Amino acid sequence: MTGFNTKLIHGQNVNDNQTGAVNVPVYNSSTYAYPDVNGKVRWDYARSGNPTREYLEKQIALLEHGANGFAFASGMAAIHAAFAIFKNGDHVLIGDQIYGGTYRLINDYFKTRGLSFTAVNTQDLEAVEAAIQPNTKAIYFEPITNPLLEVTSVKAIAQIAKRHNILTIVDNTFLTPYLQQPLDIGADIVVHSATKYLGGHSDVIAGLVVTKTEELGKQIYFIQNALGGVLSPENANLVRRGIQTLSVRMDRQQENAAKLIEFLSSREEVAKIYYPGIEGSKDHVVAAAECDGFGGVFSFELRDDVNAATFINSLQLIRLAVSLGAVESLAELPYEMSHAELPPEERLAAGITPQLIRISVGIEDADDLINDLEQALTTAIRSNKVHILKQNFG
Ligand SMILES: Cc1ncc(COP(=O)(O)O)c(C=O)c1O
Repeated sequence: MTGFNTKLIHGQNVNDNQTGAVNVPVYNSSTYAYPDVNGKVRWDYARSGNPTREYLEKQIALLEHGANGFAFASGMAAIHAAFAIFKNGDHVLIGDQIYGGTYRLINDYFKTRGLSFTAVNTQDLEAVEAAIQPNTKAIYFEPITNPLLEVTSVKAIAQIAKRHNILTIVDNTFLTPYLQQPLDIGADIVVHSATKYLGGHSDVIAGLVVTKTEELGKQIYFIQNALGGVLSPENANLVRRGIQTLSVRMDRQQENAAKLIEFLSSREEVAKIYYPGIEGSKDHVVAAAECDGFGGVFSFELRDDVNAATFINSLQLIRLAVSLGAVESLAELPYEMSHAELPPEERLAAGITPQLIRISVGIEDADDLINDLEQALTTAIRSNKVHILKQNFG
């Protein structure tokens, strides 16, 4: 069995107790009986291991080509576990555009507990190399950043890391193993917010870690079991099921993204579109070289005279919400929503303007999504004209 789609569906053999269940059952038992006091058992206590969770852990390890997989109660718990393998005095490089929750974990938690960090632009390989210190143990980054979709070469970063004997840790939430397998191109650890594309239905919060080696796997397992932020069997089952349809969902999301981008490119209200799939765009070459697709998230900037809040409030089908990667299309205003915690000058310096809209494209009919964008653009323009008329005559 070699094909990715076949692995999504039949990744692991289910050999269930006498029922012939085609899917691994949801094992809710927190504890497991021993045959006798000296008996060796595969399962004893569900924090340490649970058959439903283990199915998912093996499934993601198989898809990411790793030695071991681990399922956590959220993406943040997974990312915490990846950083928790470091010790007092260690230094870690981090991408300067990482998810805000990860930045908060680093800045407000790990920094106060003996780890030090330097944020670098991971597209600038010289800056990355220059930031490495004698106590640097790892570089952590997102190959596609949010919300401007800037692409970093995993291969190039991993080559630098290997030269300096440090680990490469990649947050693969946006691409998923369907579009990129970072462990194959030099990374050592992959983390996921499985809440997004892997779960795929906005109905579960979950996180995953995959290690390239069993040695790293042992370190993550220790943290998973010792800290205990494990994924519940019910939620492991939801992610398992979501993963089975990952490729069909992402194919449609990418097709829809291309159609929406084509529509928005033809509209004069749109000043700029950010998506590495656009030929000739800044990061297209590196993305095309390392990824099998460009994902289902894109951003665009409205012209300054188009009211972004009116536009986004006027959307009817596309829901106004943070998060991404699910079957339904979502829109948000990063300046006011996902990135509002950053001071305004930092938001602007990072290119996150009040006119920037982020869309996570779902699997609806593209024509319906386009009609929704069109009517919201028309409403935003009309309300702006009314505003100008009021200013002039009112
Ligand atoms: C790239 C990325 N990594 C990690 C996370 C955190 O995941 P979770 O919300 O599942 O804890 C998010 C959440 O938005 C994310 O976008």
